[in-house]
Amino acid sequence: MQDNIMAIVMAAGKGTRMKSKKSKLVQKIYGKEIVKRAVENAEKAGVKEIVAVVGYMKEEVMEVLGNNISYAYQEEMLGTGHAVMQAQEYLKGKRGKVLVLNGDVPLIRPETLNKLIEKSIENKEYATLLTAIYDNPTGYGRIVRDEGGNIEAIVEEKDTTPSQKEIKEINAGVYCFDIEELLSALEKIEPNNAQGEYYLTDVIKIMNEKGLKTGAVIVEDNTEILGINDRIQLEMLTKVLQMRINTEHMRNGVTIEDINTTYIYDDVEIGMDTVIHPNTIIKSGVSIGEDCEIGPNSYIREGCKLSDKVKIGSFVEIKKAIIGEGTKVPHLSYMGDCEIGEKCNIGCGTITCNYDGLHKSKTIIGNHSFVGSNVNLVAPVTLGDETFIAAGSTITDDVPAYALAIARQRQTNKEEWNKK
Ligand code: UD1
Ligand code: CA
Repeated sequence: MQDNIMAIVMAAGKGTRMKSKKSKLVQKIYGKEIVKRAVENAEKAGVKEIVAVVGYMKEEVMEVLGNNISYAYQEEMLGTGHAVMQAQEYLKGKRGKVLVLNGDVPLIRPETLNKLIEKSIENKEYATLLTAIYDNPTGYGRIVRDEGGNIEAIVEEKDTTPSQKEIKEINAGVYCFDIEELLSALEKIEPNNAQGEYYLTDVIKIMNEKGLKTGAVIVEDNTEILGINDRIQLEMLTKVLQMRINTEHMRNGVTIEDINTTYIYDDVEIGMDTVIHPNTIIKSGVSIGEDCEIGPNSYIREGCKLSDKVKIGSFVEIKKAIIGEGTKVPHLSYMGDCEIGEKCNIGCGTITCNYDGLHKSKTIIGNHSFVGSNVNLVAPVTLGDETFIAAGSTITDDVPAYALAIARQRQTNKEEWNKK
């Protein structure tokens, strides 16, 4: 737990390359906004007090981040150093450490943030940076070290000398600072650089000149520090997150047949020996038991809770469905807002009619029930235990336990009719 650690998330920038009517920071990766991910990473690292510096489209950004965090306002984009200065009032009089994070870097692992904090405390560093080694460092600030390996300065791409351009170690935009020394260094930064901006990165040089120790942690997984500027990077980061989540489930004993076409959102629980077939989407918050089979081509939406040994077959969409042990929904169904008991069979093409244009209503199906193919369950409706619903029925009334329900017109055959 990082009790006395604060975090500042820089989220005032514009992001023109996204070509969007919205701020780039509220673009979503797997259903969650970029800036929200940046803030949640700090929260998951145990940081309690978070300040977001907002500016461009601030209402939109603040709506996404909610009111559990504080806000500072940057009116003009005068650089990252200027952005942090706007949060001064939250830092003044405080002692301890502050994490500073780029709001457009969403995939940092909380463990990495903790590593940064721990190193800065253990080594008594006044600034600890996260850096990475990139084959193509173009666009990033370069880490300039002396012969002894100490960090001398961070030089932005546009300010590099030809030899500095060759440096492969880059600044990730993630820092842990001593609060008092950060405030004092921020007062000394000046916009005398190629972009005419107040660079947060100049703080390192200023601290070094004062004889304060600084250091770095080199990130192990370079994908953690990828930023987002356009929609191509948005897709790239989605892929990175997809691989990260899917492999995590695989390590926990879930079989995923095709890692590339399985989309599992954050915070999904899946039990051991469950098999996920290709082209399956599982939304946040869903929980799936052990020995289940899901897909191919199925969509498990929000609010679903599946017990053990459930089968959700091909082309099935379920939403807010609580499904008991051993129940099967094998093909082409929509089951929404429902509770289905144990060991039921829901026939091909069966759907819950859960929406009347105004309200969502619930369908309840008791244990050991058999619903034939192509049944419409017009909610609200309850089927008791061990009911049997004839294929093609449109069920509008409750069905008592052990009953057979048939709700369809009888067939008439007109003999010889088609000989005309
Ligand atoms: C910054 C670093 C660079 C590093 C890179 C990593 C500086 C000077 N440079 O460069 O060394 O390699 O991040 O991604 O810090 N922002 C504001 N207000 C501003 C300017 C920026 O809130 O006035 C926010 C942006 O919304 C963004 C973050 O700060 O979330 C970083 O700004 P950006 O302009 O992307 O910095 P880089 O040029 O990428
Ligand atoms: Ca950036």
